[in-house]
This record gives sequence, structure tokens and C-alpha cells, in this order.
Amino acid sequence: MIIATTIAEVRTQVAEWRRQGVTVGLVPTMGYLHEGHLSLLLSGGAQCDRTVASVFVNPTQFGPNEDFDAYPRDFERDCALLERTGCAMVFHPEAEELYPDGFCTYVENDSDMARVLCGRTRPIHFRGVCTVVSKLLHIVTPDKAFFGQKDAQQLAIIRRMVRDLSMDVEIVGCPIVREPDGLAKSSRNIYLNPQERQAALCLSKAVTLGQKLVTEGQRDAKTILSAMLALIDAEPLAQIEYVSAVDGNTLAPIQRLSGTVLVAMAVYIGKTRLIDNFSWEE
Ligand code: PAF
Repeated sequence: MIIATTIAEVRTQVAEWRRQGVTVGLVPTMGYLHEGHLSLLLSGGAQCDRTVASVFVNPTQFGPNEDFDAYPRDFERDCALLERTGCAMVFHPEAEELYPDGFCTYVENDSDMARVLCGRTRPIHFRGVCTVVSKLLHIVTPDKAFFGQKDAQQLAIIRRMVRDLSMDVEIVGCPIVREPDGLAKSSRNIYLNPQERQAALCLSKAVTLGQKLVTEGQRDAKTILSAMLALIDAEPLAQIEYVSAVDGNTLAPIQRLSGTVLVAMAVYIGKTRLIDNFSWEE
């Protein structure tokens, strides 16, 4: 596996692959990889001839009081895991490589898509995500880029960015990967102590309850959300930020479930902010 730290190295290698006529997939990550990331890598490997992973904890998507400094990092371990997936190249730049002195150009979704759900409490988050993802797409020029459905709002916003800016790449959404007891895999799960780890199951239990109600025919968003909220509220260590039902493409709030729907939540377990969701399509 090639380890590239500069944009020039990535471009040279991708140009060589293009000469060979092979297809390229990109899996953007912030490292500290878990099975969720590895499933993206495996999808990349199945759908493209060469897969590039980026490992970069992107400073512009963290707010001033968020966990940028504490965010877990272990590049050696990441490389060992990536190597096992057959990843052809990892791009691991320093912050200055992507954000040179005087950097002042951002990519922003200027709509409620970026202001609802996580955008309410993380006002600059999606600007940082769109900026770094568009940079990575320009650098790697992949045929396909792979993102997890756990970050469903991110996925919807990236799809919109690619459409709005006429980017020549296919965005592939990959299913949420869960622990055997249901907890969605996340690099931030490492922050949970054993008691909080147990309490965190209220998110996936709420997802299961919501899905059950929908399967039974319930279409009233308020009824579904109330049941999910009550379940999470019963967990003393949980502090709900939001549990919402929105249109899966526009992220606009909905009263009744129809078409493509996203039911998403953000919940603090102690000091750790976790997200989970389910999608449903009629
Ligand atoms: O989902 C993530 O890990 C990040 O938001 C991403 C897409 C790698 C951009 O930094």
C-alpha cells in the first residue's frame, strides 16, 4: 500500500492508474478505523480496481468547543487495517497540505439542509465537510466515493454538493455497521466508559422501535418520534439533542412518512455525542 502525504504524490499515482485504464474509488475517513470504515473499503474494492483511503482529522468541520484535539488517532493501526482490505493508497496529509497559509475558500450548502438536525448545534460542520470532501474529490478524481449511511445528513449534503457543482463522481452510500448488541460503530464509541457503553444502546433500541412501528404500518411521524423519545428518555445517562423525521433527500421536516424518509437522532451519553438513524422508502 502506498502512503502518500502530499497532493502531488496522489496526483502522480492516480495519473499512472488512469494511463493503465483502471477505475479508482475513494473512501474519505478521519482515521481510527472500525468495521464501518472497513465495509466502505470493501465496497470500494468490489466496485473499483484501485481504492484510495484518506485519513485526515479535518479541523474545519469541528466547532471551537468540539473534540478536534481529543479525536482518537492511530495511523499505524489504521495502515495495518487498510492494508488488509487491499487498499492501494492511503492519503495522510498534514493540515498545511490541505489548508495552506491564507486559506479562505469554502464550499457551503447554503440551505436548511445544513441547518437542521446536526446543523442546529454544529453550524460550521457541514461547511467543513463539504470543503474537505470537495478538495479530496479534486485531488483523487475518483470514479466513485463511498460514505456511510450512519452520517445520513452528511451523505445527503454531499450528494447535493456533487449535483449542484456538477462533479463527475458517483457517490455510494453504504449501510450502517453495528456492534453485535446493536450500537452503531463509531470512532467516538471509545469515549464511553462501561456504564455509558451500556446506556448508549438506547439509540439503537430507539431505531429498532421506530422501524417496528413503521413496519406495522404507522405513518404518523409524531407517534413514531414520541415512542422513540420516551424510550431514550428512560435512560438516565442520555440527554437528547434531537430525534427527527425528515425527507431523505431534502432533509425537510415531515409530518407523515411517505416517499424517502430519514429518521435521525443525536443523543449525548454522558459527554459523548452519538448519532444513529434509519431510512425508509415506500
Ligand atoms: O465522515 C467522516 O469521517 C468525515 O466527515 C469525512 C467525510 C471524512 C470528512 O472529513
